[in-house]
Amino acid sequence: MIKISPSVLASDFSRLGDEAERMEKCGADWLHLDVMDGHFVSNISFGAPVIASIRGRVKLPFDVHLMISEPLRYIDDFAKAGADIITFHIESDSGADETVEKIHSLGIKAGISIKPATPASAVFPYLGKADMILVMTVEPGFGGQSFMFETMDKVSEIRREADRLGIDIDIQVDGGINDKTVVTAAQAGANVFVAGSAVFRAENAADAIMTLRKNAEK
Ligand code: DX5
Ligand code: ZN
Repeated sequence: MIKISPSVLASDFSRLGDEAERMEKCGADWLHLDVMDGHFVSNISFGAPVIASIRGRVKLPFDVHLMISEPLRYIDDFAKAGADIITFHIESDSGADETVEKIHSLGIKAGISIKPATPASAVFPYLGKADMILVMTVEPGFGGQSFMFETMDKVSEIRREADRLGIDIDIQVDGGINDKTVVTAAQAGANVFVAGSAVFRAENAADAIMTLRKNAEK
């Protein structure tokens, strides 16, 4: 099923709760929350207390993308903050099996993400364990970058391998998604689309979300 997950990284942080409500009203399926620690990536965004502060404002599932070192140490915090899906990077220093198990033990969905330089095969062992694979379509760390078309082969490879195994897994793409690149990513096999600038900077966010959804369904 196609899902649109606006990334609040492109929102007005001074009104984060209002921005979350706006996305809910505009038809978002999930809300994407980019956590950056200034170590795993060279930017710092926000952490669990900020996420907890807006949890009560919307019913939207919280899609938390951890771009942090040692994600395993912080799973409890993000669970308490109200995450519904927690995605961590396979390139981080926490064991992927252990981290997925920890997330699941708290009744939360687990996603595993790969950066542009990491091969698709790195996530093959987790297709039956994780709930979602996030293929980064930019280098993680900043919003507003250009979509890397060369990552599409990895999306196709992962979808092909999941189909071969008979596994219906969510494949998410994140970075540079707009009304055009969403078509390319959907054709490659992605079904969950993160969009920061394309939604928050649009004149009409509801139209932007509707167009992304329509184009992904093409
Ligand atoms: C990048 C983040 C993305 C980012 C996407 O490290 O993971 O979620 O906010 O922003 P856009 O859609 O503007 O590329
Ligand atoms: Zn993200």
